[in-house]
Amino acid sequence: MSDAKIIDGKAFAQNVRARVAKQVQDLKDYNNVTPGLAVVLVGEDPASQVYVRNKVKQTEECGMKSLEYRRDPDISEQELLTLVYGLNENPEVNGILVQLPLPDHISEDKVIAAIAPEKDVDGFHVINTGLLATGSEDAMVPCTPLGCLMMLKDFYGGDLTGKRAVVVGRSNIVGKPMGALLLNESCTVTTVHSRTQDIEEECRRADILVAAVGRPEMIKKEWIKPGAAVIDVGINRIEKEDGKTKLVGDVAFDEVKEVCGAITPVPGGVGPMTIACLLANTVTAACRQHK
Ligand code: GUN
Repeated sequence: MSDAKIIDGKAFAQNVRARVAKQVQDLKDYNNVTPGLAVVLVGEDPASQVYVRNKVKQTEECGMKSLEYRRDPDISEQELLTLVYGLNENPEVNGILVQLPLPDHISEDKVIAAIAPEKDVDGFHVINTGLLATGSEDAMVPCTPLGCLMMLKDFYGGDLTGKRAVVVGRSNIVGKPMGALLLNESCTVTTVHSRTQDIEEECRRADILVAAVGRPEMIKKEWIKPGAAVIDVGINRIEKEDGKTKLVGDVAFDEVKEVCGAITPVPGGVGPMTIACLLANTVTAACRQHK
């Protein structure tokens, strides 16, 4: 069998960003609008700091306005809700992203519910999850699953009808919306999780396998149907024998690439697409708000 296609998420994301930049320019030229993304960061979680820095940089590179709101970890829930309500009313803000996780004393559900659904560029608000589940085009779709879908559609020439898709993991951020998106594309979708009886058996039937569990290199070569498209959402830091650390996905990349038809690497696969889709969602939100 010929080698698998290694899907270049970095190059793909660059194309998405170029499209977003063009849309931003059009909004400026024809509507006199500069889309704005507000990012709220509570506390000093190092991973969140890195994400937020990248988001801010790329937002500006696409010609959009980035508004950053950093708050101490002891901010009260009420103060954070008040900040969100203010952003809902701010006409310069078209998209709102509250970086997760939040400190334990703040309810993430309450904060997400406070975001105006039309500005919810993460697609986490129940209005948006409901719109996605009912197949509405008006849904704001969570960024990581949206990026995965774009890469899958590209690999399959645009049509996923009838494909058997297996999603490994049932998180609200990735697994559940990914399943809904693939169902909307007329795939036959199975979601497997830690209580599934025989995950391996389910995976072996998949034409499309999306792994989002956070378990380093869990998915092995024997689990893969020859020719399948494998999308690896996992980002796991593991320690090597020499004591150094490295990033690996949920898929055992080196062995799986010998049997699958296409695979996303970690890093350089899904990761870059997530931020690109956040920018795409922000410009979509701005267009809808200025129709
Ligand atoms: N933390 C990790 N990933 C995400 C994401 O996609 N959105 C938000 N808001 N927080 C995150």
